[in-house]
Amino acid sequence: MNAGILGLGRYLPEKILTNADLEKMMDTSDEWIRTRTGIEERRIANDEINTSDMAYEAAKAALENAEISAEDIDMILVATVTPDQSFPTVACMIQEKLGAKKAAAMDVSAACAGFMYGMITAQQFIQTGAYKYVLIVGVEKLSKITNWEDRNTAVLFGDGAGAAVVGPVADGKGILSFELGADGSGGKYLMQEGEFLSMNGREVFKFAVRQMGESSLNVLDKAGLTKEDVDLLVPHQANIRIMEASRERLGLPVEKMTKTVHKYGNTSSASIPIALVEEMEAGRIKDNDLIIMVGFGGGLTWGAIALRWGK
Ligand code: UT7
Repeated sequence: MNAGILGLGRYLPEKILTNADLEKMMDTSDEWIRTRTGIEERRIANDEINTSDMAYEAAKAALENAEISAEDIDMILVATVTPDQSFPTVACMIQEKLGAKKAAAMDVSAACAGFMYGMITAQQFIQTGAYKYVLIVGVEKLSKITNWEDRNTAVLFGDGAGAAVVGPVADGKGILSFELGADGSGGKYLMQEGEFLSMNGREVFKFAVRQMGESSLNVLDKAGLTKEDVDLLVPHQANIRIMEASRERLGLPVEKMTKTVHKYGNTSSASIPIALVEEMEAGRIKDNDLIIMVGFGGGLTWGAIALRWGK
């Protein structure tokens, strides 16, 4: 059984934090943030909205979009590094809230590559016929672990959730190939140290530019396809300069790359599904389109998927 995307949903908190707002909070400038990252504003969840609340909203929207009821879901995977607490998991919390009574549930921890890890975990259960429908949510409340006194990181991140229902699709559609990887030796470059996130931006930047390009080309190769076959590149929305580097590596025109980084910042595991929903809602994804999703993050981790759109 091929596994493909049957429906998508997202949730973004209403509160907008602009670069101008950040200028008042720390020694930074709109000009610096825009030119170095492409970010103009990001969403921040208020105290009443926790990670599981955002995950629930995105999951509900994805189930509606897929026209599948919660009771039919066999498994829930939530990719997050900012769960409400270590246990019960966010996956268990939303299992109850959604009424997905028969679903197994667990969180997946692979930082910004978490949604890729979740999708490929789901694919294994579907391909073998063990499960039919798996719900995957990428969700982060990064504002919880942001050090608002560290301008190196505070300007980059945002909160949000994206979700996908994955299930069996026709021959030739769905996930065609994937690559997942990790390099624990680079763990020190992006980590949670005590309460807060810390990062060596330059090291992560170098790793990201190399890995995003290589993994995208590798999944194309594994699927027996070439750069010319790509209809849409959906890169992890961390920094426009990293995204542009992977677009150029694939030789794609600007309009074939998704961009939400300017309005949501880096939402970690949520960024790829959020970007996909926006492409779908804008009517920019057609049946049979070849989509390359590619992400990287703390761990270090990375993952890429070549997916043929359609059921
Ligand atoms: O999901 C994965 C998450 N991580 C990433 O994707 C991060 C990857 N890395 C990056 O995106 C970039 O490295 C950054 C955007 C974090 C930084 O851009 P950069 O071009 O690598 O800048 P830099 O680190 O070389 O810093 C240049 C200067 C430094 O000043 P000095 O030491 O040259 O005087 C920084 O102190 O910019 C300074 N700077 C800032 N200035 C104003 C750093 N942050 C800020 C800031 N506002 N917010």
